[in-house]
Amino acid sequence: MKFFIDSGDIEEIKKAAAMGLLDGVTTNPSLLAKSGKPTKKALAEICEIVDGPISGEVLSTDYEGMMREGREIAKIHKNLVVKVPLIPDGLRAVKTLKDEGIRTNVTLCFSANQALLAAKAGASFISPFIGRIDDTSHEGMHLIEQIITIYQNYGFHTEVLVASVRSPVHVLEAAQLGADICTIPLKVIEQLFYHPLTDIGLKKFIEDGKKIPV
Ligand code: E4P
Repeated sequence: MKFFIDSGDIEEIKKAAAMGLLDGVTTNPSLLAKSGKPTKKALAEICEIVDGPISGEVLSTDYEGMMREGREIAKIHKNLVVKVPLIPDGLRAVKTLKDEGIRTNVTLCFSANQALLAAKAGASFISPFIGRIDDTSHEGMHLIEQIITIYQNYGFHTEVLVASVRSPVHVLEAAQLGADICTIPLKVIEQLFYHPLTDIGLKKFIEDGKKIPV
């Protein structure tokens, strides 16, 4: 499973990239707003740090606006992927952008039928928002299972990008289901390393190692 970082913060992205485990980056307008940098500048900086797909989202909700913004985003760097909302004009834009050789990440996906539409439109990535579904007392990961089944049934090439990840359990379950990608906040990436028995065991090995000559 590929690991993306879900962040618009340059320092966070640098920290995750230094771990050597990063395959890409997802941003959204809310994440980039926290960084305070102009969107295009922030996206260009991210491309200097990570060599993999970097998602930058359009703000327009009409076809022409999304096409204009999408082409501008794609011009920033070859690794830029245009993030488009899962609405009718959005999927129309996905189809045209695909014809122009521009990759897309369809965002705000909350149902398997929406994911089916995105795949039929030719999306490169589909982003189901797992954490936000969990917040409504439903099982977000069930959606990942449904989408993977449907995509396998028909041999779609759209990659399943598990988004709105809130905990290490989300990462574990995404990997068990065979999701293509999990986009993860830095805090959760760091949590993946942690196990108390690792820390206790390491402390004991170091203590014992010091009792004898090297
Ligand atoms: C990434 O592509 C999504 O925009 C992001 O994961 C949403 O996460 P949130 O639900 O924590 O805002």
